[in-house]
Amino acid sequence: MTRTYVITGAASGIGATTARLLTERGERVIGIDLRGTDVDADLSTPAGRQEAAAKATELAGGTIDAVIACAGISAPIPATVAVNFFGVTELLEALLPALAGSDAPRAAVVSSMASLQPNSPEIVAAALAGDEATALAEAEKLTAQGPEIGYLVYPSSKRALARWVRRESITPAWAGAGIPLNAVAPGTVLTPMTAGLLATPEGAAMVDASVPMPLNSHQPPESVANLLIWLTSVENTHMAGQVVYDDGGADATLRGDDIWSWADQH
Ligand code: NAI
Repeated sequence: MTRTYVITGAASGIGATTARLLTERGERVIGIDLRGTDVDADLSTPAGRQEAAAKATELAGGTIDAVIACAGISAPIPATVAVNFFGVTELLEALLPALAGSDAPRAAVVSSMASLQPNSPEIVAAALAGDEATALAEAEKLTAQGPEIGYLVYPSSKRALARWVRRESITPAWAGAGIPLNAVAPGTVLTPMTAGLLATPEGAAMVDASVPMPLNSHQPPESVANLLIWLTSVENTHMAGQVVYDDGGADATLRGDDIWSWADQH
């Protein structure tokens, strides 16, 4: 039976590729983006998120089977936390009533291997508290110090999103409603987001130094899209709260083989 997917960031990169692959399989896709797809909306604002959810629900006829949230930006500006965290979490929450009508509701979001990088604990804490004004103010403090410090907003937004997924996935709203909620964490994906950085040898060397990818190096958007499609498929009945590092081995390289000893008795 045809499933109805809502995909944010559907006009470019990972979102566009996911939308194309699902459409080729005969599924129904409702795209959300600033422009260029089915629903024009700005996910950096609360009003834009509510409007996006309302229009997508209307286009879907009231029931949505899966939400795949890809929209994001990586610029060293405060809006990065607004789009990457609140533009995902508030939209997902606004779409919960439409997901409730599905026989097999699913949701997946795009975090990043950048969730492992240095970040701002203040931004992460404010985001997880649902306090957008404070998160934006903390981001502003960093971006005012220039792009190198301002870059911290991006890993902060992705760390907070990964933690939100783990926290919320097991609650009555998600697990209790039978909705698997998970995240993917890609490495360096070949999309318009990274094209500028990878265009020069210096830029590529800088990226590769912080995102080591021993398996097959930079990845095509299909490598992420296919995982998002599985996470939101009927077949995913028991995966919840996972942040799946689909990153050419960057996570295993950076964190090493022992990510379990925190739980050992000493
Ligand atoms: P992209 O730039 O090709 O696509 C992002 C899309 O999000 C664009 O169509 C853009 O218009 C949309 N968007 C941005 N701000 C928006 C707003 N305020 N409202 C609505 N839509 C908005 O980038 P890409 O690479 O496809 O990124 C997709 C996701 O993957 C992002 O969340 C990004 O952070 C994440 N990611 C990307 C990686 C990469 O190397 N490209 C690595 C890890 C994560």
